[in-house]
Amino acid sequence: MTSEDVRNEARKKLKGICGVYRDCDGLPNRICQGQSYGGTLGIGGIGAGYSFSNNVKALANIHFKMRLISSHFTPDTSTTIFGKKVSMPVYGAPVTGVNSFGGEDVITEEEFCRATVLGCREAGSIGWRGDTFTYTLEKSFGLNAIKEADGWGIKICKPRDQETLKQFIKKAEKVNAIAVGVDVDGCGSFAMAAHDKPVYRKSIADLKELSDSTELPFIIKGVMCVEDAEAAVQAGTDAVVVSNHGGRVLDHTPGTAEVLPDIIAALKGKILILVDGGVRTGYDVLKMLALGADGVLVGRDIVRAAVGGGIEGVRIQMDYIKKTLSRAMLMTGCPSVKDISKNILI
Ligand SMILES: Cc1cc2nc3c(=O)[nH]c(=O)nc-3n(C[C@H](O)[C@H](O)[C@H](O)COP(=O)(O)O)c2cc1C
Repeated sequence: MTSEDVRNEARKKLKGICGVYRDCDGLPNRICQGQSYGGTLGIGGIGAGYSFSNNVKALANIHFKMRLISSHFTPDTSTTIFGKKVSMPVYGAPVTGVNSFGGEDVITEEEFCRATVLGCREAGSIGWRGDTFTYTLEKSFGLNAIKEADGWGIKICKPRDQETLKQFIKKAEKVNAIAVGVDVDGCGSFAMAAHDKPVYRKSIADLKELSDSTELPFIIKGVMCVEDAEAAVQAGTDAVVVSNHGGRVLDHTPGTAEVLPDIIAALKGKILILVDGGVRTGYDVLKMLALGADGVLVGRDIVRAAVGGGIEGVRIQMDYIKKTLSRAMLMTGCPSVKDISKNILI
């Protein structure tokens, strides 16, 4: 199977949901953008899709300095996160619920979680798993997949009530997950509220209570400003993910690559700073790393890869990102991840 085969298969299965276009940019003419007149969110962005497309535009506006004259090297994309060695600082984002708007004939939630977690592991990366209204403590598809992968995965829970969250965290510990966290931007989830699974804004004290409740590294996902990033540090978190949820929770935010530099300037070295939004290739990854991110998550392309090719499809997608990251590192003069800095940008 090639990457093209996987995408062609995904295009058939995701008919009417995602066009599997060459550019996944959330522009108004894309079939995923159904929300503007009250349609369902599907795989698109909320509202008119500006936050989604701003992620892609922000990355497109960053340019590399091509720098070639030095002795030859083969780029080493590997690094470590939370003490684990990975083939590159790129991870499968926590995406859930494709079955709920695509139907079980597209992919079941169980298959989707297995594809992400096991496919990422095969590529030397880590699959992150999310949370949605179909998940319960008894039926936690993401944690089941992480268990099957001997703990090789990260679990991000929706900001449910504190007691339920603590139980999810305990379950993540039981399956030996690498880390656990909460997507604080999930407090705006209509899907959760509509299915009687209330979600909440979280205070520093709430987040500290959760982070103190576990020995696992604790992550806060959904940070889009320096204030929230600083609050996350006060809450004792180990990492934040700069993210607007792929433009799915509030329309008219900037792209994540636009807010990342200020967050890096305020927090670099205090905690890990990861980022996602609009990342499709290793070139996009290198831009985020050059801005100072410690790692990058890939969302919608994991959906297409899992739907089109299951575990193997995700491995192929992650390998494609690694190959393009390696090429971009060669052409900008970065032998290893440590050598990447904003000096490679113009
Ligand atoms: C269909 C869909 C479902 C998602 N579900 C979750 C989730 O359950 N938890 C979470 O933290 N983020 C969720 N996200 C957000 C992703 O983790 C990630 O932040 C986003 O997709 C990155 O942008 P990209 O898709 O442009 O790569 C979801 C995104 C999509 C597209």
